[in-house]
Amino acid sequence: MNSNRIKKGLLIAVPVVVVILAVCILFFNRHNEVTVEGPIGQIADNETDSSVWAQFYPAHWDSYQANYDNTENPSHFEAKPYLQVMYAGFGFAKEYNEPRGHVYSLEDVIAVDPARKKAGASCITCKSTQVPGLIEKYGEQYYLMSFDDIIDEVNQPIGCLDCHDPKTMNLRLTRPALIQALERQGKDIDKLTHQELRSLVCAQCHVTYYFAPDTKEIVFPWDKGLKADQILAYYDEKEFSEWVHPDAGTGLVKPRHAEYETFMDSTHQSAGLACADCHMPYVKVGNKKISSHTWQSPLNNIEESCTTCHRNGTDWLINRVKTIQNQVKQVQDLAGNAVVAAINELKISREAPGADQAKLEEAMYQHRKAQWYLDYVAVTNGYGFHNPTETLNNLGIAIDSAHKSVQLAREARGAQ
Ligand code: HEC
Ligand code: HEC
Ligand code: HEC
Ligand code: HEC
Repeated sequence: MNSNRIKKGLLIAVPVVVVILAVCILFFNRHNEVTVEGPIGQIADNETDSSVWAQFYPAHWDSYQANYDNTENPSHFEAKPYLQVMYAGFGFAKEYNEPRGHVYSLEDVIAVDPARKKAGASCITCKSTQVPGLIEKYGEQYYLMSFDDIIDEVNQPIGCLDCHDPKTMNLRLTRPALIQALERQGKDIDKLTHQELRSLVCAQCHVTYYFAPDTKEIVFPWDKGLKADQILAYYDEKEFSEWVHPDAGTGLVKPRHAEYETFMDSTHQSAGLACADCHMPYVKVGNKKISSHTWQSPLNNIEESCTTCHRNGTDWLINRVKTIQNQVKQVQDLAGNAVVAAINELKISREAPGADQAKLEEAMYQHRKAQWYLDYVAVTNGYGFHNPTETLNNLGIAIDSAHKSVQLAREARGAQ
């Protein structure tokens, strides 16, 4: 009798508990999980056109389309006039603009001054979803093709295929230079963690690189490590220069947007963050939650990008970022003036009759070093925010080396 009643009670109670649990799980899931719209697996392996992906991922497509609002790309030279003096004799001196939205990548590279397109096809390597396909099609020839030869074959800017496997939507690496650099470090690219990939997809492009002299292939100079001193040591060992400064006579190397290298070992990276944590935060789209695909300054959506961890309020955070960036800019300008002084001094000494050649060589090396460290900071986006202490350290070395260069150049011509 009693046991029957218990059974009946259980028959009612168990389903009620199950339903309550199910509702709870659904509720929490909706708040904690990101929405992947389906069905997945229907996009072709090599679908370079992001608008084809749009029908499966409309919320992501809308977020991606918002990149069109990121239109500003002022010249670097406006805020950093010393760069133009430093780049004399090199394509960058003609024109060098700050970046803007990913969707403009192709338009902007086509519009760039012809002086900067000498590297040929390599220039578009970071600008289009179609590049991995072209590298497959042409093999090593790709890097040797001229800009005009290749440009007719591309019409898609940076897009879904650059970071995702269309069948699984997993993150993946598509650029050979990064894969090769990781392999040379002994990394198994099939065993990268999810959090590593949330930065490494960006490291396909937001890194420094050079063109191998014979093959024009893009190479990441990371074999001695990812930091400014290790990269310079790598170039020094190879006695590699990209150009010779016409006034100073110095053989120079050019850093490019080293966001990934700078971010590594920073406070945030060692705390476990990835690029996507700040630049692709979760955003609400209707009742869904997705990773933002609008790549921009995290200060534009600081509530989503920062206050998930920092509780001190948005004003405090913006102030911290601005303070760091202003301090970096101030020291960067000091370094800029010091490097320009070294260039001017070298020019005078090289023209002086009977100058001490060995001293001049030493002065030129100090100039090479100073310009490398300064340029490394100046062209890396974020004005030092990604790693404030390392950035200021690099600028300190730049100032010291520039002063040494000035002193040595003066000694070379017998001036005090
Ligand atoms: C620059 C790299 C990059 C590009 C380009 C890119 N994504 Fe993503 N995408 C990511 C990252 C990073 C995540 C977060 C993945 C994670 O943490 O699992 C993500 C996540 C997603 C997800 C999983 C759900 C989510 O919101 O986290 C979908 C679906 C997605 N992207 C669709 C797209 C579509 C569609 C496009 C093209 C319109 C695209 N992505 C372009 C990097 C990219
Ligand atoms: C295939 C190459 C490529 C990949 C992958 C890539 N980027 Fe970019 N990114 C670029 C280029 C090129 C630009 C500049 C486009 C322009 O100015 O025309 C840019 C611009 C940006 C900007 C805008 C800068 C500004 O001043 O407004 C941000 C932010 C950014 N990227 C962050 C990221 C993050 C974060 C990732 C990884 C999730 C990533 N990018 C992956 C090539 C890439
Ligand atoms: C802790 C948060 C955080 C992380 C992680 C982070 N960034 Fe940033 N990033 C910022 C902030 C803040 C700025 C400065 C924005 C400004 O000046 O308006 C910035 C600026 C940038 C810019 C220039 C955008 C602009 O509008 O000026 C690019 C490009 C960029 N970051 C790429 C990356 C890449 C690539 C990674 C990973 C290697 C990364 N960031 C990691 C916070 C972050
Ligand atoms: C996933 C968590 C997380 C996010 C998101 C995050 N931070 Fe942080 N941040 C940390 C941690 C952890 C530290 C280390 C210090 C600490 O424990 O408070 C830190 C340190 C800092 C510092 C101290 C300076 C430094 O670099 O040493 C500043 C400033 C800062 N964050 C600003 C920001 C800004 C601005 C954003 C958004 C663009 C942001 N953070 C996003 C976790 C986060």
